[in-house]
Amino acid sequence: MPSIVIVGMQWGDEAKGKVVDYVSQNADVVVRYNGGNNAGHTVVIDGEVYKFHTLPVGALNPGVTSVIADGVVIDPAVLVKELDGLKARNRNAVDLKISGNAHIIMPYHKLLDQLEEQRKADRKIGTTGRGIGPCYEDKISRIGIRVCELIDQDQFSSRLSENLKIKNEILTKIYGASPLSEAEIFAEYQAYAEKIAPYVCNTSALLYKAVKHNKRIIFEGAHGTLLDIDHGTYPYVTSSHTVAGGACIGTGIGPTEINRVIGVAKSYTTRVGEGWFPTELQDETGDYIRERGREYGTTTGRPRRCGWFDAVAVRFSARVNGAQAIALIALDVLAGLDKVRICSAYRIDEKIIVDFPTDPTQLKECLPVYDELPGWKEDISGIKNYEDLPANTKDYIKHVSEIVGVPVAMVSVGRGREQTIVIRPELLEP
Ligand code: IMO
Ligand code: MG
Repeated sequence: MPSIVIVGMQWGDEAKGKVVDYVSQNADVVVRYNGGNNAGHTVVIDGEVYKFHTLPVGALNPGVTSVIADGVVIDPAVLVKELDGLKARNRNAVDLKISGNAHIIMPYHKLLDQLEEQRKADRKIGTTGRGIGPCYEDKISRIGIRVCELIDQDQFSSRLSENLKIKNEILTKIYGASPLSEAEIFAEYQAYAEKIAPYVCNTSALLYKAVKHNKRIIFEGAHGTLLDIDHGTYPYVTSSHTVAGGACIGTGIGPTEINRVIGVAKSYTTRVGEGWFPTELQDETGDYIRERGREYGTTTGRPRRCGWFDAVAVRFSARVNGAQAIALIALDVLAGLDKVRICSAYRIDEKIIVDFPTDPTQLKECLPVYDELPGWKEDISGIKNYEDLPANTKDYIKHVSEIVGVPVAMVSVGRGREQTIVIRPELLEP
């Protein structure tokens, strides 16, 4: 049962897609277990860029079964577009399985997400506006519409009718918006249902069988640990379980079947949307990182906030995920800086804090305490072996390992599949 969870250790956008692609080259099954198309996972293969929001990125590897499991929320328009996009680019037909239990993002979810952000004004979350929160709200309230209902015309018709009555009341009476048309939604979603139906099955049973047949399974986490609904920087979080444990919750696979957890962290920190960010750099170094790292959202195109590597936050992530290895991404971006910094603790007045506080009243007071290291001037993007990296880059990697308390098993020095240096291959294996 060689199964691996890949999980983001920061606020998302850690380049998990790249690590999943790398680790899943000899995988049998790749699984998305949480979130929806608020995720943006990019892979670059032979210079060609592939962007995924709903499909697992492992879908690109031939012979892989891709699973969209129970815990995911699906915008069927986006899913159908991604499938058509792959076909148009002549990639192998995707062997896709979709859980009948996954919830469907409806037009009113997207609208309510955006209207609620407007209503909150300066207290907004900075969501992606994709309807993720409202869809999970309905799931928890037990009024959500699931894939198994979408593909059953009669059930869908009655569930839509029942839900739209309430949603239209809310849209018109609370937000002063126009009501949505039941007939239009029904027609649009029936077209998606036809396209999606052939892929729907009991993915929990399928995964269990794969586990029992010793198949190599990669669980592809979306977003990042600090955006987890329970463990993240609430309320500035997403609405799903982004931690490694989410792989069990979102698929129906038990915790004893997971063999390895790989945490993915960028060599610096980024965040999109609102919320606390102790190591944020609102200066030219922040701009330098944003431009070199092309730190603009895959999903929304928003410029990402950039800052130094926050070892307090990543140490917390290592703990809540049980991470056994770190993939340290985008080291090439830091090249050219005289000094580089790693936040090793926080300070509130004279008090030193080493455990990441999830209480916002504390977190907003935290100032970073930095370790300063010499930077490196060399362009490292073509380097293939760890030994050939500049001494200062190796020191930086070592410092991250020590201060987080988890070994760095691989680093990336560029966006391409080949720009990956494996340091401890055994830690990337189940
Ligand atoms: P990947 O998988 C970065 C952030 C949003 C916002 C908050 C809530 O690409 O790493 P939501 O639309 O989920 O209700 O927004 O969460 N967010 C992400 N930030 N990468 C992501 O995914 C994110 N998914 C959600 O910016 O602050
Ligand atoms: Mg993203």
